[in-house]
Amino acid sequence: MRSKLIAGNWKMNGDIATARILARAIADAAQDAACDVVLCPPFTALSAVAAVIGSGKVALGGQDCHSAISGAHTGDISAAMLADLGCRYVIVGHSERRTGHGERDDLVQAKAAVAHAAGLTAIICVGESGRERDAGEALTAVEAQIAGSLPDGASAGNTVIAYEPVWAIGTGRTPTPAQIAGMHAHMRRVLADRLSSDSADSLRLLYGGSVGADNAAMILALQGVDGALVGGASLKADGFLAIVNSCY
Ligand code: PGA
Repeated sequence: MRSKLIAGNWKMNGDIATARILARAIADAAQDAACDVVLCPPFTALSAVAAVIGSGKVALGGQDCHSAISGAHTGDISAAMLADLGCRYVIVGHSERRTGHGERDDLVQAKAAVAHAAGLTAIICVGESGRERDAGEALTAVEAQIAGSLPDGASAGNTVIAYEPVWAIGTGRTPTPAQIAGMHAHMRRVLADRLSSDSADSLRLLYGGSVGADNAAMILALQGVDGALVGGASLKADGFLAIVNSCY
């Protein structure tokens, strides 16, 4: 039985004061949540949010890390630095990194590998573009991304995969319930070819892309959906908590 996970990706939003208030409201209300909860603030607010959430129910995650362990990489942050700040998770391969920073599967794979080496759980993002969806290539595009982005040693204990169709992120558009469930079933089959049967069964597969209080219950009830990666709706405590409370 896979427990559900709701992760909030705050992206490049907010200052430290706002981050503290948001984290406090979520941490207080999510103590007894039926799912795991992760907050991924911007790097600048990680330490403030770490102090607010302590070692309670809500876990901390970074939004990205470098693929090297350390070294001359001006402006970058290593997985070990995130772990040092109290992070337990890191998002890698988000489509905004793939598109905005030209990150490809092999780089995402290297980032996930260093995340694992630092003891972090990598939330590896995959998802087809609108063109691929329209061309009937969504399943093969996601399959290729999983093949290229999952490092050796990936397991249910150190990896979560988030299916985020690029055309659904921040747009208010979502795939149909059948499309989401179909993709999750496909991803589970792909994992079965790649991982031990235990890990292929128990690795959590999230959906992301315009998840909000209005559609969370429906999406989280779909067969094979083990949680959500939430962007815009994670910036308001009430909306995010409504999604957390949609988990059963
Ligand atoms: P969204 O973003 O919820 O604002 O669509 C999701 C994400 O980018 O992870």
